[in-house]
Amino acid sequence: MGSNDKAVLNYGEGQAVELPIMSGSMGPDVVDIRQLYAKTGMFTYDPGFMSTAACRSAITYIDGDTGVLLYRGYPIEQLAQQCDFLEVAYLILNGELPSAEQKAKFVYTVTRHTMVHDQLTRFYSGFRRDSHPMAVMVGVVGALSAFYHDSLDINDPHHREVAAFRLVAKMPTIVAMAYKYSIGLPFMYPKNDLSYTANFMRMMFGVPTEDYVVNDVLVRALDRILILHADHEQNASTSTVRLAGSSGANPFACIASGIACLWGPAHGGANEAALNMLGDIQKQGGVAKIGEFIRQVKDKNSTVKLMGFGHRVYKNYDPRAKLMRETTHEVLHELGLQDDPLFKLAIALEKIALEDDYFVSRKLYPNVDFYSGIVQRALGIPTAMFTCIFALARTVGWIAQWNEMISDSEQKIGRPRQLFTGATRRDVVPIAQR
Ligand code: SDX
Repeated sequence: MGSNDKAVLNYGEGQAVELPIMSGSMGPDVVDIRQLYAKTGMFTYDPGFMSTAACRSAITYIDGDTGVLLYRGYPIEQLAQQCDFLEVAYLILNGELPSAEQKAKFVYTVTRHTMVHDQLTRFYSGFRRDSHPMAVMVGVVGALSAFYHDSLDINDPHHREVAAFRLVAKMPTIVAMAYKYSIGLPFMYPKNDLSYTANFMRMMFGVPTEDYVVNDVLVRALDRILILHADHEQNASTSTVRLAGSSGANPFACIASGIACLWGPAHGGANEAALNMLGDIQKQGGVAKIGEFIRQVKDKNSTVKLMGFGHRVYKNYDPRAKLMRETTHEVLHELGLQDDPLFKLAIALEKIALEDDYFVSRKLYPNVDFYSGIVQRALGIPTAMFTCIFALARTVGWIAQWNEMISDSEQKIGRPRQLFTGATRRDVVPIAQR
């Protein structure tokens, strides 16, 4: 994509530099600053990358002002209503929705990569049973790189495709094993006659002593949750995967770095934090205590945040939050939990926050994490596992973004610079004189 426009930067004593402006297919134009340092001796300064496009990408488009999310051009609302997770995974990886035949082949291949090397199962026993499952995920997924390091040439498109299949296919098995390990129950092996998400739920909640009964409504709800979390442009964990991959690191190690970043409460850990927040308010008195809680959030001296609210990009309602609220309602209804106190509390909190100028003026709306904890808890998923489910879903986005970066002719190792504010040059004084 290109444009003839240029930006002119005036600096120093009457100096000026012209910088090309580039246009994509949608969204903001970019000022190409690749020559800025060479021409001016200056860097740009953008901690948190609030105004920085770090790459070209054709995978996911977000319009934060209008609350739009498109995977390869398709609106998230249509994908969540009309497709299943593996169909969306195919789209994100390949750029087009699959035909029935392509989907059947993709599902067949994913299904037959769901088992893990038996020695991988031994990594779990090195962790305490009460370890946070995200710590286990970082370790076990990172260990996958030890099993495939020598059989992977990241510059070979076929090797990259096999790595993608292995990661998408094995994550449910690895996540379910982390859960089983934490509760001291035996690992469940995948069953090839089940759908991807039904297979995951059986590995999570099934036991060897009896057949697992699949609940299609609950499977559909979790499948939709996976779709909503599959990719999201250049978020913190995706940027971590790209940066790790830019050095040529093994894709399994790169995905492990993405899991580590996702763990943070400001990012993928927010759904766990949001549910814990709702639980705390409930303990303190529920809806009657919302006012007091909101006061704490507004208090600049407190570090209390309304978890599940706010977003770096969405300055409107996160479209995924709307779909997540619908899914929560469906699941609670299916389980006869319509009167779930935490769901009622979340609805009340959302209503109050959306009418409060503190949130309105800062354009703080519910994000994908605000409701996802409630629906996952209703599905029987323990709070500590929420971010593992997020990582399971986001793996397809991470690997697609990694693949796009590796195959991008413009890609180089990522190496940001800095504005140095430390001590200027000085000489060491012998310790006897210090
Ligand atoms: C995800 O990037 C992605 O795409 C992420 C994600 C994905 O799919 O990959 O969408 C998933 O990470 C969703 C976000 C989940 N995190 C949370 O719900 C945690 C709570 N939210 C915040 O921590 C915060 O909103 C962020 C981190 C999400 C965004 O922060 P920004 O863009 O850096 O905004 P900011 O911190 O500069 O806040 C702007 C103002 C500040 O107030 P002032 O200093 O201007 O007075 O809004 C306030 C903040 O204090 N603010 C909040 C708030 N979020 C921002 N105040 C109370 N509660 C909040 N949640």
